[in-house]
Amino acid sequence: MSKYHHAIVVGASSGIGRELTLLLAESGCKVAAVARRGDRLEELERAHPDLVFGVVHDVIAYDDVPALFVETTGRLGGLDLVVYCSGVMPEVGPSEFDFAKDRSMIEVNALGAVAWLNQAATRFQNTRSGTIVGVGSVAGERGRVGQPVYNASKAFLHAYLEALRNRLSKHGVTVTTIKPGPVQTEMTARLNLAGAMPAKDAARMILAKASLGRDCFLKPTHRLIFWIIRNFPTRLFRKLKV
Ligand SMILES: NC(=O)c1ccc[n+]([C@@H]2O[C@H](COP(=O)([O-])OP(=O)(O)OC[C@H]3O[C@@H](n4cnc5c(N)ncnc54)[C@H](OP(=O)(O)O)[C@@H]3O)[C@@H](O)[C@H]2O)c1
Repeated sequence: MSKYHHAIVVGASSGIGRELTLLLAESGCKVAAVARRGDRLEELERAHPDLVFGVVHDVIAYDDVPALFVETTGRLGGLDLVVYCSGVMPEVGPSEFDFAKDRSMIEVNALGAVAWLNQAATRFQNTRSGTIVGVGSVAGERGRVGQPVYNASKAFLHAYLEALRNRLSKHGVTVTTIKPGPVQTEMTARLNLAGAMPAKDAARMILAKASLGRDCFLKPTHRLIFWIIRNFPTRLFRKLKV
């Protein structure tokens, strides 16, 4: 039996968000599964017809979010968990500076999160309850040469979630930042990442940590490793080419 009864998962059609949706439904939680690919959402509905319904939505349609949020919470019959999982990380070459790709990462990874989580924050502030989970990344811990704007979008998300937490904890609202390392999903399929964790394992850990109300790395070793990386002298860090 889940501690959550009514949840919205934004970015539910594949990878971590899909597994989160399935785990929540398996534990008896009613879930609104939000994403663009309706066929993927229908698969989730078919797996749990009484508990999951799909909401086809592009998170960059920011102006639609307030009405959609109200409609979705009405259909759910309540709300105690919102997970923002939508994210994009297009391939970016080592010498490439492509504004269209960069804008897509800011729009989906950062602005979409603000559009949805501001709605959750307002509702939970009023009800003096609720849990907000944002899926950030270890990639947001430092500006690396490989993915400047993906890194920046996740750093933005981390700072935004920290500020939400600082605003909302006094109202009884939990805000948790998840910083996964490599996970086996469509986003990372092209990268052949060594040691990437299965998406189901990542989802299980995220649900276990959702109520902690702080920054959470998924691998215990990452807290120390990324503390060292954050504090690594700039000139030496630049030489690492990571
Ligand atoms: N995989 C990793 O190694 C890793 C590591 C750290 C953090 N993360 C983060 O984990 C989150 C989930 O990623 P994933 O690895 O599970 O990748 P994924 O399988 O590619 O899932 C990405 C999700 O984001 C949704 N999305 C993308 N653009 C959207 C848009 N415009 N509107 C609505 N939804 C949109 C996708 O749905 P539609 O395409 O159907 O819209 C999909 O459900 C992301 O925030 C990612 O940055 C991943």
